[in-house]
Amino acid sequence: MNIQLTKSQIGLDGVPAAETMLSHVDGERGELIIAGEHVKNLVGKSSFEGVTARLWNAAAGKTLSEANVRASLGAARERAFARLPDLLPATRGMSVVDGFRAAVAGLRAESGLEHESTIVGAFPVIAGALVQRARGNDPVAPDPNLGHAADTLRMLHDRRPEPREVTALDSYLVTVSDHGMNASTFATRVVASTQADLFAAVTAGYCALTGPLHGGAPEPVLEMLDAIGTRERIKPWVDDALSRGERLMGFGHRVYRVRDPRADVLKAAIQQYATDAADLPFAGEVEAYIRAALRRKNPDRPLETNVEFFTAILLDALKIPRQAFTPIFAVARAAGWTAHALEQRRTGRLIRPSSSYVGPRPAD
Ligand code: ACO
Repeated sequence: MNIQLTKSQIGLDGVPAAETMLSHVDGERGELIIAGEHVKNLVGKSSFEGVTARLWNAAAGKTLSEANVRASLGAARERAFARLPDLLPATRGMSVVDGFRAAVAGLRAESGLEHESTIVGAFPVIAGALVQRARGNDPVAPDPNLGHAADTLRMLHDRRPEPREVTALDSYLVTVSDHGMNASTFATRVVASTQADLFAAVTAGYCALTGPLHGGAPEPVLEMLDAIGTRERIKPWVDDALSRGERLMGFGHRVYRVRDPRADVLKAAIQQYATDAADLPFAGEVEAYIRAALRRKNPDRPLETNVEFFTAILLDALKIPRQAFTPIFAVARAAGWTAHALEQRRTGRLIRPSSSYVGPRPAD
C-alpha cells in the first residue's frame, strides 16, 4: 500500500539523525551551544582558531590548543596557495560560487598531514584567489603568521586589514562555525557515513550550502535591500513581494520559533565594529516591517529574522563582494563540517533512510 508522507516527514522535521558533541540548537528558547558554550559567550572571547580547536577536540578526542590550530591553519594556507595552479584551471569561466565548488572538489589528501587542517586552511585561499581573479588580479599569497580572519581579509582585499575589521570577521566566523544538523552538515555526515574521506564529505556540504534556502541567502538579502532602496518603499515593496507568494530572504527557519540568536550576535558585531560602513537604521526598519508583515501573513507560524539577514550587512560592510558571501560562509562552516565528518566516521553508522514509494505497481 502507498503511504503518503506529511510535509514534516518529507523534510525530516525534528528527526534526530546523529548523537553529537559539537553543537545544539534549541529552537524554542532561541539558544545555540557550540562545543559546550553559548554562541554569545564564545564571540569576542574565542577566535575562529579557538572554536575550531574546541570542535575538533570534541569530535576526535584531541587536545589541540588555539595556538596549535593557528599554526596548522597558517601552514595549510601556504600549502593551498602552492596548489592553486592545479586547482584553478577547473574553475575557468565560472562564477565565484561555482568556481569555489570546483576547486574544493579538487582538494586531496597530503601525506602525513591532517585532512581537516588542509581543508579549513585551503578555503580562504581559494575564495581569495577567485575574488582576485574576478577583478583581473593574481592571487594574493597568504601570511601564515596572521590569524585566519585577518589573512582571509588580506587575501580578499590585498591590503592589511584594520583590527576592527578583523574582529568583525572573526566574530562572524565563530558565530557560524557550526549549527546542529543543518542541511549542509547533514549532507556532510551522510557522505562521511559511507566511510568516504573528509574531502568528499565537505564537498557535499558546500554543494548543499549554495542553495538560497540555506547559505545562498545573503546575496539575495542585499539585492532585496537595494531593490527597496528608500524608507517610503519598504511597505509597498514587501507587501507586493508577499502578495506574489515570494519568500523574503533572511527570515524564517526550520528549527527556530523565536529569533535566531546568531542574528543578535552579528547585529552587535556590526554596531561595534562596522557601523560607519553599514546603514543599520534602514536595515532595522526593513527588518521590523518584514517581521510584522510575516506575523500578519502567517499568524500561526513564527517567522523571525535568521542569521543571513545580518550576515549580508556585516560582510557588505567589510567590503566583501556579494558573490563571495557563500564561500566566506563555507570558510567558517568548514570547521563544523570537518568536525562532523570526523565524529561521524568515529561514532556513527551508515545513514541510509527509507522512502515511501508512491509510483505505480507492476500489473502482476
Ligand atoms: N518569507 C515568506 N514566507 C515564508 C518564509 C519567508 N522567508 N519562510 C517561510 N515562509 C512561509 C512559507 O511560505 C510557508 O507558508 P504556507 O504554509 O502558507 O505555505 C510557511 O512559512 C512555512 O514554510 P516552510 O517551507 O514549511 O518552512 P521551512 O521550515 O521549510 O523553511 C526556510 C525554512 C527554508 C529557512 C524558510 O523560512 C525560507 O525559505 N526562508 C528564506 C530563505 C532564507 O532565509 N534562508 C536562510 C536560512 S538560515 C541558514 O540556512 C543558514
